[in-house]
Amino acid sequence: MLYQILDRAHSGLRWVVLLLLLAAIVWAFQAWKGGRSGASKLPLYALIFVHVQLLLGMVLYWFLSPYVRFEAGIMKDPLLRFYTVEHITMMIIAITLITAGYSRAKKAASDAAKGKTIFIFYLIGLVLILASIPWPFRSGLNGNWY
Ligand code: HEM
Repeated sequence: MLYQILDRAHSGLRWVVLLLLLAAIVWAFQAWKGGRSGASKLPLYALIFVHVQLLLGMVLYWFLSPYVRFEAGIMKDPLLRFYTVEHITMMIIAITLITAGYSRAKKAASDAAKGKTIFIFYLIGLVLILASIPWPFRSGLNGNWY
C-alpha cells in the first residue's frame, strides 16, 4: 500500500521535475545570452522537486522496492541491476550537479553569470536524468509513462 503510493508519486513526479528543469534551463539561457535580468524562482522549484525525488527514491530503494536486492548474481539480471545500481548512481550524479549549480549560481556576481551556471549544470543534469529514467520503450525495466 505505502509502496504503491510512493511508487506512483515517484513515477508521476518525473514530469514535474522534467518540466521545471526545462523551464529553468530556458530562463537561464535567456538570462545568460538574452540579457534578461531579474530573479527567477524556477531554479529553486526545480531543485526542490529534484530533492523530493531523491527522498522518495531513497525510501523506495532502502525499504520498499522489490527490484532492489543485495544478492549475488543481480548484475546478471538487467532489471535488478538497473534499479539496484544504474538508476540510483546516475540520478545521484545528476542531483549533485543540479545542487552544485544552484549554489554556485547563488554566488555569481551578475545575472548573466547566474544564468550561465544554471544553464550548464541543469542541462547536464537533465540529460543524465532523461537517460536514466526507465522509459516504457526501454525493454525489460517494467517502466510506465506516469
Ligand atoms: C530526479 C531524479 C529521479 C527521477 C526523475 C526518477 C524517476 C523514476 C521513474 C520514472 C521510475 C519508474 C517508475 C515506474 O515506471 O513505475 C523510478 C523508479 C525507481 N526509482 Fe527513481 N527517479 C529519480 C531518482 C531516484 C533516486 C535518487 C533513487 C534512489 C535513491 C531512486 C530510486 C528508484 C527506485 C528504487 C525505483 C523502482 C521503484 C519500483 O519498485 O518500482 N530514484 N524512478
